Amino acid sequence: MRGLSGPGVLLEPQMAEHAAELFAVLGDPRVYRYLDTEPPADEASLRARLVRLEARRSTDGAEIWLNWIVRNPAGVLVGYVQATVASDHGADIGYVLGTEHWRQGYGRAAVATMLDELRTGYGVTRVRATIERDNDASRRLLERLGFAAGEAATGPSELQFVRSLP
Ligand SMILES: CC(C)(COP(=O)(O)OP(=O)(O)OC[C@H]1O[C@@H](n2cnc3c(N)ncnc32)[C@H](O)[C@@H]1OP(=O)(O)O)[C@@H](O)C(=O)NCCC(=O)NCCS
Repeated sequence: MRGLSGPGVLLEPQMAEHAAELFAVLGDPRVYRYLDTEPPADEASLRARLVRLEARRSTDGAEIWLNWIVRNPAGVLVGYVQATVASDHGADIGYVLGTEHWRQGYGRAAVATMLDELRTGYGVTRVRATIERDNDASRRLLERLGFAAGEAATGPSELQFVRSLP
């Protein structure tokens, strides 16, 4: 994995050493309104999760796990983006920013930067994001990046968005 730069964002491969900075950003319960996870209980448990993710691979080796923390031009850690890459050239993506950094263009810039890297660095040709129907911010972000609502339903409250990478 390598670091990436995009319009107004820097992406660094996520490491356990980011635990303290990430914990400060991920503690707000509002971040989790549309997520099926909860805020990390404490910095130590977040660090343990980051250590597991540093493997960059599922235990069977079939999936590549890519996680980048996102910094703004001032160097402040504003959130993270992630992708799970399967052997069939498909990837599932996710993205989370701290509340005080919302609506400043970081989310769209960071995801766009990750998509470029997925295509050029990992040969990904199809990307999927699963979101809650009411998650307007996530939906708008995806639409602005050229994703379209897919047909596969994952649950009554969820929508899948898909995009091909040329
Ligand atoms: C989803 C999320 C990453 C968006 O990040 P962001 O940096 O605020 O998004 P951006 O500033 O890049 O905005 C992207 C687009 O969404 C729009 N948008 C952002 N927040 C919005 C909201 N609450 N309601 C409606 N539109 C919104 C922006 O106006 C922009 O559209 P535009 O270019 O047409 O103006 C952020 O809201 C977040 O972290 N949410 C909590 C975690 C989450 O739900 N992640 C997604 C899981 S699938």
